[in-house]
Amino acid sequence: MFIVIEGIDGCGKSTQAGLLVDVLKKSKAKPKAEVLHLHEPGGTRLGEAMRELLLRTEPKVEISARAEALLYNAARAELVEEVLLPALAAGKHVVCERYFYSTIAYQGYGLQQDTGALHGLCAYATGKLKPDVVVLLDLPAAQSFERMKRGKDRIESRGHEYLEHVRQGYLLLRSREPERFRVVSALGSQDDVHRRILEALADVLP
Ligand SMILES: Nc1ncnc2c1ncn2[C@@H]1O[C@H](COP(=O)(O)OP(=O)(O)OP(=O)(O)O)[C@@H](O)[C@H]1O
Ligand SMILES: [Mg+2]
Repeated sequence: MFIVIEGIDGCGKSTQAGLLVDVLKKSKAKPKAEVLHLHEPGGTRLGEAMRELLLRTEPKVEISARAEALLYNAARAELVEEVLLPALAAGKHVVCERYFYSTIAYQGYGLQQDTGALHGLCAYATGKLKPDVVVLLDLPAAQSFERMKRGKDRIESRGHEYLEHVRQGYLLLRSREPERFRVVSALGSQDDVHRRILEALADVLP
């Protein structure tokens, strides 16, 4: 099974992906499946090198909007080919923080690039591989800023209004794929959110 966790910066993706991976690892379902915890951009040598380039602030690399979309998708293509497809073919469960929905939400709705063109680019990069389910952690941008106490990375430093556009973009994406998206409020404690995610995934979890 392929589960993607999406949502704006600081909404709790890494926290909740970790808790979900623990649940999957403890699953009593037979046969027992291995569980892989991935994040985007990353998960391959190329992807981790690109993550460093894309997210660093010191020294900041100027990247134009289209180049940014292409770089994310190059890292994604590598992840699909080298990691995701082999893992899924081997029957593993994959929990991935971010996938192509992030490109549409951030570069499309956030940076106001052509979302139709970006959908095409993402389809090319992923070979149209889609997750079984997307958990969209929904949080107002103001709350996410409160949670991000550490230094802001290059994307996060674009500010509050940008992130709110991204958030609205995610909600529009949900309306394109209502059966795949499970929107979960990311407000409240980590345990509250974790419980909500388990409820939202009750029909798909092994
Ligand atoms: N429900 C919660 N309530 C309060 N703080 C939280 C909650 N969930 C996570 N946090 C804290 O908020 C911060 C951001 O969480 P986390 O790193 O999981 O988010 P993220 O979506 O992975 O962020 P990023 O997009 O930057 O990778 C962390 O310091 C984390 O401990
Ligand atoms: Mg994270």
